[in-house]
Amino acid sequence: MFIGFLHIHSLFRYIILLLLLITIFKSFGGWFGKKQYLSGDKKLALFTLISAHLQLVLGLAIYFMSAEVQFSNLSSVTREVRFFTMEHSAMMIIAIILITLGYSLAKRGKDDVTKHKRTAIFFLLALIVIFVAIPWPFHLPWSAVARGWMPGM
Ligand code: HEM
Repeated sequence: MFIGFLHIHSLFRYIILLLLLITIFKSFGGWFGKKQYLSGDKKLALFTLISAHLQLVLGLAIYFMSAEVQFSNLSSVTREVRFFTMEHSAMMIIAIILITLGYSLAKRGKDDVTKHKRTAIFFLLALIVIFVAIPWPFHLPWSAVARGWMPGM
């Protein structure tokens, strides 16, 4: 079950990244083009929010099953264990909070441009945090942990 969840969690990154990119692109267009905030815009942001929350549930499930998560003596564990126990999980939770905030603040925006603007800013911040916290196969200066493009690679 753990492997199945991990594989879904790994693949799901692409769905979230794609949804975030489309929502951000459309929101910036709506903000600077002073467009109406249509029900399609709200639905798109809602799909992005739901996919982020699903990823949170999956992440929490594997967090409590993974051998890469350890709580005792964090100073002497491997870089990988520290990354998944602390950095990855904490940053992803922050990103999901940003998406949730962006969605609900947009809903309460007083006009259409404000709704687009709030979605654009909060979702862009979340995208940056998520991008930084994914264990990509290429080397990022701040992360020594790398995983494959696809699960099991
Ligand atoms: C947008 C949110 C998230 C994305 C895009 C994401 C992405 C990923 C990716 C790409 C991996 C590597 C999978 C592989 O080895 O193929 C991974 C591993 C992991 N993630 Fe996430 N994650 C997210 C949120 C979370 C959250 C919220 C938690 C926990 C609270 C979490 C816990 C973990 C753990 C524990 C592993 C390592 C499991 C292992 O290899 O034993 N993730 N995540």
